[in-house]
Amino acid sequence: MDIKNDPRFSGIEPFENKVWLSSPTMHGDEQKWVDEAIKTNWVSTMGANLNEVEKELAEYIGVKHAVGLSAGTASLHLATKLAGEKLYGQARPNEGTLAGHKVFCSDMTFDATINPVAYEDGEAVFIDTERDTWNMDPKALEKAFEIYPDVKLIVLAHLYGTPGKMEEIKKIADAHGAIIVEDAAESLGAKYKMDGKWCETGSLGDYNCISFNGNKIITGSAGGMFLTNSTEDANKVRKWSTQSREDAPWYQHEEIGYNYRMSNIVAGIIRGQVPYLADHIAQKKAIYERYKAGLADLPVSMNPFDDDKSIPNYWLSCMLINEDAMAPFVRGEKDQLWHTEPGKSSPGEILAAISAFGAEGRPIWKPMHMQPIYRTHGFITAEGNGRGRSNAYIEGTGIDVGADIFRRGLCLPSDNKMTPAEQDKIIDIIHRCFK
Ligand SMILES: Cc1ncc(COP(=O)(O)O)c(C=O)c1O
Repeated sequence: MDIKNDPRFSGIEPFENKVWLSSPTMHGDEQKWVDEAIKTNWVSTMGANLNEVEKELAEYIGVKHAVGLSAGTASLHLATKLAGEKLYGQARPNEGTLAGHKVFCSDMTFDATINPVAYEDGEAVFIDTERDTWNMDPKALEKAFEIYPDVKLIVLAHLYGTPGKMEEIKKIADAHGAIIVEDAAESLGAKYKMDGKWCETGSLGDYNCISFNGNKIITGSAGGMFLTNSTEDANKVRKWSTQSREDAPWYQHEEIGYNYRMSNIVAGIIRGQVPYLADHIAQKKAIYERYKAGLADLPVSMNPFDDDKSIPNYWLSCMLINEDAMAPFVRGEKDQLWHTEPGKSSPGEILAAISAFGAEGRPIWKPMHMQPIYRTHGFITAEGNGRGRSNAYIEGTGIDVGADIFRRGLCLPSDNKMTPAEQDKIIDIIHRCFK
């Protein structure tokens, strides 16, 4: 049935303007800095905007160096390569630095977090998710080290702007002499209390990355940064990102290079956005709290965080439907099917309903261990090996927290330009799904 003709939604008018999941929010200064770059002819991967945003972001995050790059993915690639080179030495030109090595990776994240492990010829082993913050589960990480004691690299993300359990993870990493690549692409501005001291995400790993993709909390239309306290590492990443040129009068190369540097035009947009980071976080927080209050009478919960140890940036508001309120819902590789049942609903139904009226939500990021491309890779849960758990003669298939959150959860429209009236309408539509 066309959802708009479903009597449960009678009287609801479509949104006049589309309500986005998370779209860019410009303030005016972006244009000024872009114009200045053009007027002064710094239309290149050098210039005042780039220098300024590197300085501002390093100061804000509390690290010595920020290196502006073309994307968060570029930053993750070079961070992962740097980690591989530190651990295993310089690779031959046709081989990645992680060849022959496993890497423990966040499972519930966007694939850009962990694809660089494959770019570098490593093998990602996915670590299941915990329920308190929806990030890498330290218990599963411990199990992973029991199974693969030789692993020396952990790549993790802070999902939807909520910091993960970094203190526990850092202790485990230190105990095994492992280093951490931190993906703070979604969590710029989120804070975490590490050993009693408040720190910014993006400063918590050995090699740290942020993104200025168009959907992020502040944007440059694209762009990313590598963050570090090491001058040597910053210099190396800057060199690799500009084709690895040597100090010679001609093009001379001792290492493989990349064209990954941030443009001074992109940096101009970011320069105009930085002063508004705190405002964007406050707006996203208000959205999260409005959903929390508006959905409190339904059998659902919001994406959780650790109140004592973290302050999220509330980039995306998400909800999780209680198990006993889940209507029948199945997903194939590309299609999905759901039924309606009184008092129950499903992510499929809710996303279709809000979309029918012109608002954009999204399923929870599908866990990496469920992705066709990574189905042959290891997956470790708090119980141990998460693969091959089912048995025709024994009930139960073992825990898989990521799969469960993917099945019952969804990302709600979280655009900071959404008005309270628009948000109330979304909350109303969700209520009607449960009618
Ligand atoms: C967790 C995470 N990591 C990495 C990226 C990649 O960043 P970019 O799009 O800037 O390459 C994104 C989103 O784009 C992301 O959400």
